[in-house]
Amino acid sequence: MRVGVLTGGGDCPGLNAVIRAVVRRGAQEFGLEFVGFRDGWRGPLEADTMPLDVNAVRGILPRGGTILGSSRTNPLKDSGGSGRSGIARIKDNLAGLGVDALIAIGGEDTLGVATRLYAEGIPVVGVPKTIDNDLGATDYTFGFDTAVNIAMEAIDRLHTTAESHHRALIVEVMGRHAGWIALHAGLAGGANVILIPERPFDMDKVAGYVEHRFQTRYAPIVVVAEGAHPANEDISLTTGSLDAFGHVRLGGIGQLLAAEIEKRTGKEARCTVLGHIQRGGTPTAYDRVLATRFGVHAVGAVHDEAWGSMVALRGNDIIRVPLAEATRELKLVPPERYAEAEVFFG
Ligand code: F6P
Repeated sequence: MRVGVLTGGGDCPGLNAVIRAVVRRGAQEFGLEFVGFRDGWRGPLEADTMPLDVNAVRGILPRGGTILGSSRTNPLKDSGGSGRSGIARIKDNLAGLGVDALIAIGGEDTLGVATRLYAEGIPVVGVPKTIDNDLGATDYTFGFDTAVNIAMEAIDRLHTTAESHHRALIVEVMGRHAGWIALHAGLAGGANVILIPERPFDMDKVAGYVEHRFQTRYAPIVVVAEGAHPANEDISLTTGSLDAFGHVRLGGIGQLLAAEIEKRTGKEARCTVLGHIQRGGTPTAYDRVLATRFGVHAVGAVHDEAWGSMVALRGNDIIRVPLAEATRELKLVPPERYAEAEVFFG
């Protein structure tokens, strides 16, 4: 069997560990052949491939990013200018390249396309990926732990400079719909306020927490997820542009908070936006292990011809779930988890 592998959506530390595990186990234990598709769904859409064998995956375990490249190309929308449907083009290209099955490694959008392709008769197995950790079907996704550690380290560093200058420092982290990175990094870094998209915040209350913290000899650190927003203020925090899956590009909540905190407290407030630093560089041990286990089990699913399935973490076990489950609902931070962090506010 010849198996195509692709990585789609925002990149994430651990992608290479998945690819390595898929190829190592697939080639050595099952005698499978692999072909890499470049840049997510653009690869099968345009028949853009690269060789993928055991030699190609040597040394990539600690490397961030993805050796296959990634993109947010949406074949359900994009016909590549030919006028033919993206699905028809993918089917023709797979047949032309002699590719029998696909392993799609991605988040909601990439796996949404995989679900549709499976419904159209293409043998697909999915691997969940997002640093945001917001895919409902799995307890954790690889990349999340690395992002949390990067953000935690940034918060540790910001504490000392905030104290030296008696400033409030705002740290904006990723998380469009779910505040997992903000919550975990904020808890691990000892933030004084954590603001997440699931819970619209009250600006006066935030200013109150900041004031309270200034009354100690320490300076306040506010962690805010990029998708967080105030409850009663009429503001737009989008940049106006959309990606191929229709997501608005966010930006600006950290700056807005800094300005509002200055206005309400009279104290200096500055914002640091961590942005793509959270997605770059080498994965933590936890993410390398989780990604490797996902890869080992995904290629096992291919060997068993468990098409339309996705590997997922439940407790300590890797299980198979229907691909459609991956995109059914986002995993948001539940109120009781947020309440655990609120104990430390102010
Ligand atoms: O989906 C993961 C994510 O990291 C989001 O938290 C973030 O909004 C988005 O990707 C940004 O990705 P990009 O800048 O690559 O479009």
